[in-house]
Order: sequence, then C-alpha cells, then structure tokens
Amino acid sequence: MAEQDLYPVPPEWAAQARYDAAGYETLYGRSIADPGSFWLEQARRLDWIKRPEIAGDWSFDKADFHINWFADGKLNVSANCLDRHLAKRGDEIALIWEPDAPSDAPRRFTYRELHAEVCTFANVLKAQGVVKGDRVTIYLPMIPEAAFAVLACARIGAIHSVVFGGFSPEALAGRIEDCRSTIVITADEGRRGGKRVALKANVDAAAETAPGLKTVIVVRATGGAVTMHPRDVWYHEAAEGVPATCPPEPMGAEDPLFILYTSGSTGKPKGVMHTSGGYLLWASLTHELAFDYRPGTVWWCAADIGWVTGHTYILYGPLANGATTLMYEGLPNWPDASRIWQVVDRHKVHTIFTAPTALRALMKDGDDFVAMTDRSSLKLLGTVGEPINPEAWRWYHDVVGEGRCPIIDTWWQTETGGAMIAPMPGATALKPGSATNPMPGVDPQLVDPEGRVLTGPAEGNLVIARSWPGQMRGVWGDRDRFFQTYFTTYPGKYTTGDGARRDVDGYWWITGRVDDVINVSGHRMGTAEVESALVLHPHVAEAAVVGMPHDIKGQGIYAYVTLNAGVDPHPDLHRELIVWVRKEIGPIAAPDKLQFAPGLPKTRSGKIMRRILRKIAEGDVSSLGDTSTLADPAVVDDLVANRVE
Ligand code: WT7
Repeated sequence: MAEQDLYPVPPEWAAQARYDAAGYETLYGRSIADPGSFWLEQARRLDWIKRPEIAGDWSFDKADFHINWFADGKLNVSANCLDRHLAKRGDEIALIWEPDAPSDAPRRFTYRELHAEVCTFANVLKAQGVVKGDRVTIYLPMIPEAAFAVLACARIGAIHSVVFGGFSPEALAGRIEDCRSTIVITADEGRRGGKRVALKANVDAAAETAPGLKTVIVVRATGGAVTMHPRDVWYHEAAEGVPATCPPEPMGAEDPLFILYTSGSTGKPKGVMHTSGGYLLWASLTHELAFDYRPGTVWWCAADIGWVTGHTYILYGPLANGATTLMYEGLPNWPDASRIWQVVDRHKVHTIFTAPTALRALMKDGDDFVAMTDRSSLKLLGTVGEPINPEAWRWYHDVVGEGRCPIIDTWWQTETGGAMIAPMPGATALKPGSATNPMPGVDPQLVDPEGRVLTGPAEGNLVIARSWPGQMRGVWGDRDRFFQTYFTTYPGKYTTGDGARRDVDGYWWITGRVDDVINVSGHRMGTAEVESALVLHPHVAEAAVVGMPHDIKGQGIYAYVTLNAGVDPHPDLHRELIVWVRKEIGPIAAPDKLQFAPGLPKTRSGKIMRRILRKIAEGDVSSLGDTSTLADPAVVDDLVANRVE
C-alpha cells in the first residue's frame, strides 16, 4: 500500500474523540484478553431490570453448541431506547422524519413524544391480542409509524419481522408463513421518488397464500384508496382513546427481539433471529465507537428499516445512545441528485451513513449537485453494504466531505447484528477500500479452503473465531440450519461467507462473497432464490444465475435460462421472464441480463459449473479454464456465442 493512500486521523478527531490509536489498542486488547470482565463492564451501558453477572457463555463445537450472552440479565429494549432518556433529554429530538417530497414538511418527535407514540402503538397491539413471544410482521414504508411499530413490539416482548416494502406479495406471504405470524402491520400506500407503492394491496394478495394471517393493522399514510376486509383494522381508529403509557415487559437477555429474513446460498431466505440484551449492547456500542457518537448531533443512516442496517443504525443503536436519528422516506436522487445533500443541509446532519451503490449513482450525475449544497454540518461519513471501490471512496471523501470528514467503512452482516470491522474516527488512519480494524471483542481470522489459519499478510476465507454479543442466535424454526450453515465449513468458527485480505499493516480488506450469494446494490440475493423463481415459469426447464460486475449496483444478476422443448425463445418471453422474477421476489431480484441457453455446462455427475457461467457473464471468455470434464463441452461455445452484452 503506497504511503499516499494512507489518510491519517485528522488532529481535531484525535484530540476530541473518545479513543485515539493507543486507546483503541488498549480497549481491543482487554476485550480479547479478558472478555468476561470486559463485557460485564460494557453491559453497564444498558439499563437492566436485573443486571447480568455472566457475560458470554458459548461453544461453537458441535457436541456442545450454544451461544448465550448476559443470560441471567433482564431488561426491556424499548425502555432502553426511550424511558431511560426521559429525565435527562425528554424534550430533545429523538426522531426527525424527512418526507419523500421536499415540499412536504418534516416531522420531529422528542423522546417524550416518541415514548407516547410507542406506548400507544403497544397498547393497540395488546388490544389485538398480541402477547410476548408472538411474531408481528411489519410491512411499512419509511414513515414514523415504522419506528413506533418496531419499538412497540420490543415494548411488549413481541418478536418483529420487518419485511422490506419492495418485496412482492409472494415473498411477503412466505415470510408470514415461515414464522407463523398472524398479524401484519402495513400502510395504505408507500411513497418513493414521487411514486406510490400499493402496500395494502400487496398484503391482500399475500393473504391468499398465507392462511394463518388473521389481522392486518393499516396505517393511513397517503390516503390512497384501499379495500378493507373483515381482518383489517385502521390504526388511527384502533388508537383512538388508547392510553399513551404502557409498562415495558421485562425480558430475559436471551429472549428473541426480532427475526429478519435474509438470503443464503441455498434454499429459501432464512429468518435470522436476534435476541435482546447482546444485540442491543452491540448496536449501542458499535454506534458509539465507530462513529464516536455524541448526543446533540444529528445522525442519519440512509438505509431502509427493512434491512438490518435500518434496525441497528436507524433505530436501536442511536436511540439506545440518546441520539437524534433521521429517517428519510425517499430516494437519494429524487427529485434530483442533490436531494441527499439538501436533506443534510436542512437538518444540519453531522454524520451520514450510506451505501457505495448510492455513492456511485450520485457520482455519475456529477459534482455540481454536491457543490450546490453547503454540507458544512457534515463531520463524518459512513458506508456499508458492499466493498467500496477506492474511486467512490475518494469522491465521498474529497467532493462530499471536502477532505475534512473521515470515512467509516463498516463491514458486517445481518447475522452479526452490527459493525464488526470498522475504523474509529479518532483512532484509525484510513485506506480507501479497507474496513480497517476489528471492533472490540471481534476475533477475525483468515483460513484457507482446508481450514488452516493463515498468519501475516494473506488472503483467504473470513471467519470469526469467537462469539460476540451481537451474534445471531438461530435460524427461526430450524435449529440445525444455524449450525449447518455457519459452523460446519470450518469447525469451531463462524463462517462469514466473505473472502478477505489482511495487508502488511494488519488492515482488513473484504473482497466479496465466496458463496452463491450476490450483492446487488448492497442487497443480498441468493442465486438459488432467483433460479427457483425462474423455474416456476411454465416454459422454463432450468435456470442458472450468477453475479456479474455492474458499474452502479456493484453486482448485477445474469440469468441463463433453458426453455422447455419446443418453446420459442422470443423477445416477448425474454421480457416476460424478467417481469416474472420481479413479481415473484421483488424488483431487486430482476435479472439485469437474461440469456436463453439450450444447454448449461454440467459435469458428468450433473453439477452445473458456475465458474464457467460467471466467466461468460463477466465477458472473460478467454480464460474459461478446463472444460474437458463437462458432459457436453459444446454447450460452452453456444453460451459464448450468444452472450448478452
Ligand atoms: C454482506 C452482508 C451489513 C449490513 C448491510 C448488508 C457485504 C457488507 C460491507 C463492507 C465489504 C460488505 C458482505 C457481507 N458487506 N458491508 N463494508 N465491505 N462488504 O447486510 O444483507 O446481511 O449482507 O454484505 O459481503 O457478507 P447483509
């Protein structure tokens, strides 16, 4: 790494931040050398009904597999995010809501007001019969009620399962059924980039294949027309006259807090389950350390609440830390590419946290959209979701931050609950494209395919060698799948599914997924899921899906489709299949390129050789490697000849 590629800690950050470089070393060292006392001390950052006396109690070994943190502690997560702030900062702003249309007025909620809204929502859920342990599906746009609903579940001990509003009725129905949730919270419509999304109509359609669904709470967001069924309840009617106080339910630290569905390399999306104490501690600690967060500054995580980033860094982490958190309904580039920076100026945002894909899209629209805004409130810039290419990093740093704001590149996953490898602004010199160093308690390792631990500068598979409080605790409804998916490839270690490199300075560089998961605009998509959707079409015999490089999205989706005998590979069918996937899963899963393939490259045992398909999708057809083991090497020539540009 050339020296000019090192961005030292700005002196003002070194002077004012909680930790400087030596401080980080000490903190990290203690977390690894003496985890028991380290984590019990960290646990003090939360407000416990019963303070825990044990920290981590876990084993990644098959015979004794278990993961518990603070298991003897009791707390309520919503009380930690709301009630405990009331005395000191009840009248400070907890939540700023910025609407889709810039001409509409933002809304602001103090901690006291947010507390009242959450209690009211909790009482509405209770009146609908929701009790501790029930699963509540939340399918809402980015409106304040999404925050109320999530925290209301936490308040009464119900387990929320937030489903991203961009998912189709089919995908929603699958998630409702998988966790056997009988209640969905939705809105008439969502708004995004001036368009309306028919959420309630999607729930109606999902209900047809989710027979267990008994109650739908409908928030009136746009006033758009909806059809109300006997199972539907208007939120504003149900909330009328309901008390604005609700005692928080005492929860065991290991009681489930939420389920969030995410794609894996095989099968249906899995319900990643997080629990209460360890998750909240991780959300709060990482938000404070990676961003050196101080109450009184405006924090904006520009993610959707439907993803883990929204859970941890719009709601739980910031609110646990008494932050002012901004929630934005719309798109970063609507009405134009200056919107995101206009929002920064309007609310004097101190830290913004967004995804490389958004930065690349904005960068393409040119610097003028940035230059026309002030941005002097910005002090820190965060990124998450996929490896950030150095070009986008430098644009973010030089153009958006005018060279004065450190960039916090956080590597983590739905499974990890919060940031795992990330810089700290007062402690870490930066390198564009590197997530830098592990957070306290995180023990990353590189292993080769045989599981041998690699030392020094090296590249390999990224594993985590010990448990941390924010770790997922299970796949909902499938205990075996948790162990099978994450702890069998390299026994005794958590397998991330990512590849990584450690450089001469010990910095970590994430190189991307090493499994059949692709990362489209920072959204995780299992190739198997897209394939399953395609083969559901009556004309499709077989499908193989791979990732390909994409300028804006990071990765795009390339689908190879074999049609049933006698079916004409007509352009209409080509279009129809792309629409079909959009409808089956959602717009984020729609293939960018689709190639009709009379045959797929298979080994004699029938295994599709994805390596070859990836190379063709990338356009790298000169190095297809050995194709002699294929059952029919001639299919490769046809694939290459008909590659979609
Ligand atoms: C996958 C997890 C983390 C919340 C949003 C995505 C990739 C995530 C980075 C980063 C390089 C990253 C990894 C990871 N990823 N952040 N800073 N640098 N890669 O959560 O949907 O569970 O996806 O996103 O490949 O495994 P997710």
